[in-house]
Amino acid sequence: MNRFSGRVAYVLGGGSDGPLRPGDALPMGNGRAMAMRLSAEGAHVVVGDLDLGRAEETVAHLPGGSGTAVQVDAADPDSCRAAVAVAMADAGRLDAVVCNVGISGREPIKVQSLEDWDLALDVNVRSHWLTAQAALAPMLEAGAGAFVFVGSTAGMWSSRRSMSYEATKAAQLGVMRHLAVRYAERGIRSNAVVLGNIDSALVRREFGDDGSARRGAVVPMRREGSPEEAAAAVAFLASDDASYVTGQSLVVDGGVSAAWPSPPPVAG
Ligand SMILES: NC(=O)c1ccc[n+]([C@@H]2O[C@H](COP(=O)([O-])OP(=O)(O)OC[C@H]3O[C@@H](n4cnc5c(N)ncnc54)[C@H](O)[C@@H]3O)[C@@H](O)[C@H]2O)c1
Repeated sequence: MNRFSGRVAYVLGGGSDGPLRPGDALPMGNGRAMAMRLSAEGAHVVVGDLDLGRAEETVAHLPGGSGTAVQVDAADPDSCRAAVAVAMADAGRLDAVVCNVGISGREPIKVQSLEDWDLALDVNVRSHWLTAQAALAPMLEAGAGAFVFVGSTAGMWSSRRSMSYEATKAAQLGVMRHLAVRYAERGIRSNAVVLGNIDSALVRREFGDDGSARRGAVVPMRREGSPEEAAAAVAFLASDDASYVTGQSLVVDGGVSAAWPSPPPVAG
């Protein structure tokens, strides 16, 4: 497939760190896998990350070979806007924006500080609004553009882990829907992938390197998803294959949200 030939995509949060999956040459997070998938399908990919070295590592591994790394702090409004300007200047157009960056507030509600709450809000919601705002001008001028927001099932159902994560991931879907409805008739589409358990560098960092089978056991498919499977859903929503899809949340969770409770394995 070459759905992004001649197109430019910007992936906010396209680096990745943490433990490797067995057999991988580099740590694979969702953002990195998304950048690589868009590149494999022909896009010039601008990779934004707080950690410039990791963004550069992603760009060095882009299968399509065409990309640029840019340092961006999603918690800083000027930095969010400047990164979009770099993406535009880089190739003179901007066809798809993937807002992948997301952090999990670490402090439980009873003791959570204002700073911790604000950081989650700034990175998980405000940065996505600002990035979309900056990208809208050139997209509206071109009469086309696609946003894909990387959400979480935590934005729809509580896992009782982190309230600020759940609240900000829910708010992120509000940003996604508003853009979709407000600009639908001007050629802009806006959607979200809502991820469940993905065997990514993020999850291995937070929950341990060796628990993939255990984490997958609660999923009807009996396994975690992969960053590449998350990336495939993003590529679909960003592409013309989704030309009549906007304002939607595509849940990528191996069936978790379709089952209550998740059924135990059955023989036969
Ligand atoms: N892995 C899962 O199981 C899972 C589940 C649900 C949702 N998600 C969502 O996936 C997304 C992230 O996935 P990932 O695997 O790419 O995670 P990740 O932790 O690897 O993060 C991607 C990048 O974001 C960068 N980053 C962190 N803070 C930043 C900041 N302030 N400014 C700019 N960049 C910053 C990191 O440096 C990292 O390279 C999030 O939106 C998360 O909510 C993941």
